[in-house]
Amino acid sequence: MQSTLVRIHDLVRTFGEGETRVEAVRGLDLELARGEIVLVMGPSGSGKTTFLSMLGGLLRATSGEIWIDGTDIAALAERELPPFRARTFGFIFQDFNLLAALSARENVEVALNIAGVRGGPARERAETLGNAMGLGNRLDFPVEKLSGGEKQRVAIARAIANRPALILADEPTANLDSHHGAETMRLLRGLAKEEGTTVVIVSHDERLREIADRALWLEDGRFKTLQALVRDPTCGMLVDPAEAPASVELGGERLFFCSAGCRDEFLADNTPIGYSQGARPMGTR
Ligand SMILES: Nc1ncnc2c1ncn2[C@@H]1O[C@H](COP(=O)(O)OP(=O)(O)OP(=O)(O)O)[C@@H](O)[C@H]1O
Ligand SMILES: [Mg+2]
Repeated sequence: MQSTLVRIHDLVRTFGEGETRVEAVRGLDLELARGEIVLVMGPSGSGKTTFLSMLGGLLRATSGEIWIDGTDIAALAERELPPFRARTFGFIFQDFNLLAALSARENVEVALNIAGVRGGPARERAETLGNAMGLGNRLDFPVEKLSGGEKQRVAIARAIANRPALILADEPTANLDSHHGAETMRLLRGLAKEEGTTVVIVSHDERLREIADRALWLEDGRFKTLQALVRDPTCGMLVDPAEAPASVELGGERLFFCSAGCRDEFLADNTPIGYSQGARPMGTR
């Protein structure tokens, strides 16, 4: 049975005071299993980066608990956080944060050195990971000469180098075409599953759903179940059936729309096969 690595309870983060007060994250509860890959999606400003930063011990929670492997990091003293972070997390940022003048191999080695692995063992581990990420003949190039996709693979090799329990990635494919991004993320999935690492990816990139075990939808600082959301067949947007402004029943199936406009366009554009067979539009709600 998979064991639980992360247990988050009633996590809250507010910014500012009075009129400028923003409730970025409002009472999140979440459990993550070891080896699980979870994708967090949601509109801009919904609290994704805020949530990920708290989970990674980079930002203080206003209240709530974040238990990681038996430690509540929301309750750790400031000075205890950096060593805990170094031991526990691998980070992958949108712009990768690599050291441009160093080679791919050296970037991975630096991460290993910081965690106390040096010399031969560090070189070997860097090479093994570089090869696993398909960087073989690029290992000794300065990363500033690498393509976006290659840089991303270096960033993944570095994040996973110290066998962290948890990898946190914020918009890791944002600077890549989505095909290339999804391909690299599949490599991450392979590595993570081999090492039993839990991975949390925050992204707008729909393609990453392919590699995730579970997808969560964050909106207004709260999780909604993504499975409960359905796609507007006209514009492709995800809509919450409970709040959809328009819907139509067609051939025994109910379709939900983000607006009455999309519903009308759908009815005008589609030969309503089910319609002619007797199904009736149920109108707006
Ligand atoms: N340091 C800060 N000070 C004040 N408000 C902040 C700060 N950081 C985030 N916020 C606010 O908190 C809310 C959530 O921001 P967050 O960056 O977590 O969103 P996001 O889901 O990551 O968005 P995006 O998809 O655009 O990256 C926003 O309203 C944002 O303006
Ligand atoms: Mg963000």
